[in-house]
Amino acid sequence: MKKKVQNTALCVQPIPKALVSCRDRQGRNNALVVGFAANASLDPAMVMIGIVPSRYSHHMVKESGCFVINLPKKGYEKEYGYLGSKSGRDEDKFAVMDIQWEDAEYVDAPILTDCPVSIECSVIESIMPGTHELFIGKVEALHVDEEYLDDNGTILWDMMNLM
Ligand SMILES: Cc1cc2nc3c(=O)[nH]c(=O)nc-3n(C[C@H](O)[C@H](O)[C@H](O)COP(=O)(O)O)c2cc1C
Repeated sequence: MKKKVQNTALCVQPIPKALVSCRDRQGRNNALVVGFAANASLDPAMVMIGIVPSRYSHHMVKESGCFVINLPKKGYEKEYGYLGSKSGRDEDKFAVMDIQWEDAEYVDAPILTDCPVSIECSVIESIMPGTHELFIGKVEALHVDEEYLDDNGTILWDMMNLM
């Protein structure tokens, strides 16, 4: 038999392990761990991330109107832990962790090249239902390491060893 639990926060599990990368007006890169990440529409393909306004990354996404969702694989725990606990307000997180990156193709944000999946998104709207601002992002491009694609271009998710 089920029991009603009082603490109702974070009741959808498991929480995704995603890294959102972004860039400010001065061209500075940053990234943070985001557990609030989900698909939002099939066609057109859209996704959703939630960022607390006090995060340093928040103003970057707000101002640039874009972001990249990167899915890390096992072995990236050190970088993931760091990006989810330190703020770009205090240090250049990419420099400190020697984060490997390249420019995204369609949006003004970096792609984390050590992550097998990177999703370029442009913000189409945002809402603030509570603690997090939810950014709805149109998927402009989906990049997948070619070793995880079969001959038909199907993504071999199970082969990736995602975190
Ligand atoms: C597992 C985990 C999930 C997190 N999920 C979110 C999230 O969905 N939204 C958010 O704003 N912060 C989230 N955070 C916190 C940020 O990643 C963290 O505060 C980060 O240091 C912010 O970096 P910034 O100030 O450089 O933007 C999460 C942290 C962890 C460890």
